[in-house]
Amino acid sequence: MQWLLILFMLLVRVRPSSSQTNPQDVSALQALMKNWQNEPPSWTGSTDPCTSWDGISCSNRRVTEMRLTSINLQGTLSNAIDQLSSLTYLDLSNNPNLGGPLPPSIGNLKQLTTLILLGCGFTGNIPEQIGTLRQLTFLALNSNNFTGGIPPTLGLLSNLFWLDLSDNQLSGKIPISSGSDPGLDQLVKAEHFHFSENQLTGPMDEKLFSEKMRLKHVIFDNNNFTGPIPGSLGRVSSIQIIRLDHNQFSGPVPGSIANMSLLMELSLASNQLNGTVPDLTSANALNYVDLSNNNFATSPAPRWFSTLTSLTTLFMDNNHLTGTIPIALFSFPQMEQISLAKNSFSGKLIMNSTISSQLRVVNLTNNQIIDAEVDPSYTGSLILSGNLVCFNNISLCSTFKQKQQVPYSTNLGPCGAISCPTDQSANLVTSQNCACASPFQGLMIFRAPAFSDVMNPKSFEPLELTLAQNLSLAPGSVAISNVEFSPGEPLTFTVKIFPNSGTSFNHSEVIRISSALVNQTYKAPTSFGPYSFIASTYFASPSGKKSSMGKGVIIGIVVAGFLLVVGLILVAIYALRQKKIAKEAVERTTNPFASWGQGGKDNGDVPQLKGARYFAFEELNKCTNNFSETHEIGSGGYGKVYKGMLANGQMVAIKRAQQGSMQGAAEFKNEIELLSRVHHKNLVSLVGFCYEQGEQMLVYEYIPNGTLRENLKGILFKLHHHYYPIFNLFTINTCYYIRTWGFIQILTAGKGGAHLDWKKRLRIAVSSAKGLAYLHELADPPIIHRDIKSTNILLDENLIAKVADFGLSKLVANTKRGHVSIQVKGTLVSASLDLTLSANSNPLISSTGYCCQ
Ligand SMILES: *[C@@H]1O[C@H](CO)[C@@H](O)[C@H](O)[C@H]1NC(C)=O
Ligand SMILES: *[C@@H]1O[C@H](CO)[C@@H](O)[C@H](O)[C@H]1NC(C)=O
Ligand SMILES: *[C@@H]1O[C@H](CO)[C@@H](O)[C@H](O)[C@H]1NC(C)=O
Ligand SMILES: *[C@@H]1O[C@H](CO)[C@@H](O)[C@H](O)[C@H]1NC(C)=O
Ligand SMILES: *[C@@H]1O[C@H](CO)[C@@H](O)[C@H](O)[C@H]1NC(C)=O
Ligand SMILES: *[C@@H]1O[C@H](CO)[C@@H](O)[C@H](O)[C@H]1NC(C)=O
Ligand SMILES: *[C@@H]1O[C@H](CO)[C@@H](O)[C@H](O)[C@H]1NC(C)=O
Ligand SMILES: *[C@@H]1O[C@H](CO)[C@@H](O)[C@H](O)[C@H]1NC(C)=O
Ligand SMILES: *[C@@H]1O[C@H](CO)[C@@H](O)[C@H](O)[C@H]1NC(C)=O
Ligand SMILES: *[C@@H]1O[C@H](CO)[C@@H](O)[C@H](O)[C@H]1NC(C)=O
Repeated sequence: MQWLLILFMLLVRVRPSSSQTNPQDVSALQALMKNWQNEPPSWTGSTDPCTSWDGISCSNRRVTEMRLTSINLQGTLSNAIDQLSSLTYLDLSNNPNLGGPLPPSIGNLKQLTTLILLGCGFTGNIPEQIGTLRQLTFLALNSNNFTGGIPPTLGLLSNLFWLDLSDNQLSGKIPISSGSDPGLDQLVKAEHFHFSENQLTGPMDEKLFSEKMRLKHVIFDNNNFTGPIPGSLGRVSSIQIIRLDHNQFSGPVPGSIANMSLLMELSLASNQLNGTVPDLTSANALNYVDLSNNNFATSPAPRWFSTLTSLTTLFMDNNHLTGTIPIALFSFPQMEQISLAKNSFSGKLIMNSTISSQLRVVNLTNNQIIDAEVDPSYTGSLILSGNLVCFNNISLCSTFKQKQQVPYSTNLGPCGAISCPTDQSANLVTSQNCACASPFQGLMIFRAPAFSDVMNPKSFEPLELTLAQNLSLAPGSVAISNVEFSPGEPLTFTVKIFPNSGTSFNHSEVIRISSALVNQTYKAPTSFGPYSFIASTYFASPSGKKSSMGKGVIIGIVVAGFLLVVGLILVAIYALRQKKIAKEAVERTTNPFASWGQGGKDNGDVPQLKGARYFAFEELNKCTNNFSETHEIGSGGYGKVYKGMLANGQMVAIKRAQQGSMQGAAEFKNEIELLSRVHHKNLVSLVGFCYEQGEQMLVYEYIPNGTLRENLKGILFKLHHHYYPIFNLFTINTCYYIRTWGFIQILTAGKGGAHLDWKKRLRIAVSSAKGLAYLHELADPPIIHRDIKSTNILLDENLIAKVADFGLSKLVANTKRGHVSIQVKGTLVSASLDLTLSANSNPLISSTGYCCQ
């Protein structure tokens, strides 16, 4: 009897208890798990799903909600999902390794009101069975790899409020109802149509929009629509945002759009629209207007340039506008950015009266302005290149030209300087001192913000504040970085969310936070408009493939295996010890990295060295004559630099770290790997390294002509610090154009550097710029130098510059849209080199760039 009791207890421990959760749901969850890896640790067979599994909520013993967002769930979605027939809420978003086709059986979840799969890897068609989910109010399938057409059956989702299909590879036309065939025109309760960044085609049917609809956001940019913009769009009076830019719409802009009194953003840029410039005078809620790059008929500035006083942003590049620019435009109180480049504005530019204090950029490149009167109190940029006025009065063109644009990022105060272990950042959550913690982070994508000034803290701070409040996080726990915004692209930035205490979040916290962001419970301040949140992976991938055997079987095997394993381990330990002793001596010279890793343990990461080689200490000692003073060519906080000749005759510079400035083994390895991957003629390249006898040395190619600093004695060299992206070098024919967000100046002063005429300085500028451009744009991963100065630019025998010392560099966060992976933490403060060559002394300078023949 007793053994029966023991067996019974064992079974209870091993088998999932079905006392709480309905057995059909338990077996459905087990079937789903068979195709998954990395589900939350609380998902164990011995506990009850309804009472203790993260992400599961139940009602009457049935599973009603499943939220498994941003936990790095991997695998595919099993057909068995339809067994969870009481499910109302399904959120599997932001698991980039969860993918494959979406099973049609999902159409059997008749109770479903919310389906969120954004930021996963789903492929294939969107199953038409989704159209049978009549309770559905929220459908977000954005940022996946869905292909094929939009199923017309989505038109049957008569309760749908949110529809986001953006950032997939969908093609074909927007389906319209006809007879008994459904279409998206039937979605009269929808407020959000988000279809950006697909390959949708064809003319958009007049029938798609109607007065009955409640649409607020109509977002169809970056597709391939053709034909006219339907006039019915203008009759949906609730619309606040229209983005139809970057398509091939043609014909005139329908007059009805001018009547939309709630419209805040109108972007029709980069289409083939013609006819007259639309009259927007009555759309007086407009903040953001982008009509650039269309074929409107030649006309003077439209009347609304003087009346739409709530504008923050006006882009109307390349639109045949003539005459003078109305003076009122510059005084709209919220105006931040005006771009009227490539038009035919002429006459005198007057910016004399009350210029908006918010105004940051006025871009009038390539017009025919002949004179300008600009109030000296104006502090923004005024870009007049390509206008005659620059030939008449150079000083005017340079006084107000492009100013440094430093996008906002959260000021971490003293915490910004703290260095934390990999995967952690310092933060301000505990205000007394800066703690290191692993933030949960992701990319926020705003497809239609009502503002364009990315420098203004007033725009971003409210978001930090309300996000922390609404998610019940401590003040200071939200940090914004990597703000990027350019016309035609969404505004994006990284948000890092730090735990209230401790160094990391657990699964239930990550699910709670991510869920509120993907289901729009958190509403960003209205100026930001709608957003999507694509999280970075927070929980690491499992190391091995999970066995699909039942857990009871596993226990049996484990017990039997345990004894065997213990025996084997003892044997193996002995064998390995013998082998290791023999191997160690060999390994020290052939593969010094084998024993590297945190805490000196072997982490098995063999470094990826490209071209760089390992030097024995003796070899370097010899070629520098015991590191004698006569070989010394420089020194600094890190130690000294010696010159030496290798056995093969190659001259090298050896940077020897001194005690106290050494890095950890893992960091040193990282640095070598990084440096050895960077090869460019304008960058000093790494020949090799030495890591032996407690030494850390980097061996570089030797550059004979010294530093730019030495060559520029008496010339003042001025530096400006920037945030990424700062530097952009591009070639047109034989001219190099250097575009920067700010500028560094080499000013002539004193007598020194006489042998460097302007042409040589230009060559130095361009070649250092090419080196930096390579680091920023082509190096993989990108590198920000962070310490550009004249002593870090070396000159070779032809006075070609080679940028040195990018070893302290930080890698740039990879924020390509989709999935974010931040490799190295820290503020992306950076420096750029830019040489302002006085126009008087260099005839080769044009207003847009520097030309080298
Ligand atoms: C999804 O599409 C992107 C862009 O076309 C591609 O780079 C990526 O490999 C695709 N992923 C899958 C899982 O098919
Ligand atoms: C867009 O449509 C035009 C005309 O229908 C076609 O020529 C072009 O290849 C399409 N482009 C893409 C990216 O599908
Ligand atoms: C506008 O474009 C349409 C379609 O491309 C064309 O048929 C029409 O003639 C154009 N109208 C004008 C005024 O250029
Ligand atoms: C604009 O609205 C007014 C009144 O609501 C209406 O009379 C007029 O026809 C509308 N204009 C256009 C072009 O739709
Ligand atoms: C600005 O210039 C215009 C045209 O020259 C002139 O009429 C106006 O009085 C000026 N306003 C101020 C405040 O100087
Ligand atoms: C100004 O407009 C020109 C032409 O569109 C563009 O190339 C340039 O990047 C713009 N400059 C700024 C600072 O926006
Ligand atoms: C050129 O512009 C500057 C700045 O606005 C002004 O002070 C100066 O008088 C102008 N020079 C000429 C010759 O017009
Ligand atoms: C959530 O944020 C909004 C502003 O976006 C704010 O008005 C609201 O009070 C917040 N709700 C909570 C519960 O903090
Ligand atoms: C997860 O973290 C939250 C907040 O720190 C805590 O309240 C909760 O008990 C934790 N859950 C588990 C399962 O540890
Ligand atoms: C998002 O989740 C919250 C919290 O569970 C819920 O109250 C809300 O209704 C959900 N929103 C949507 C659109 O499903």
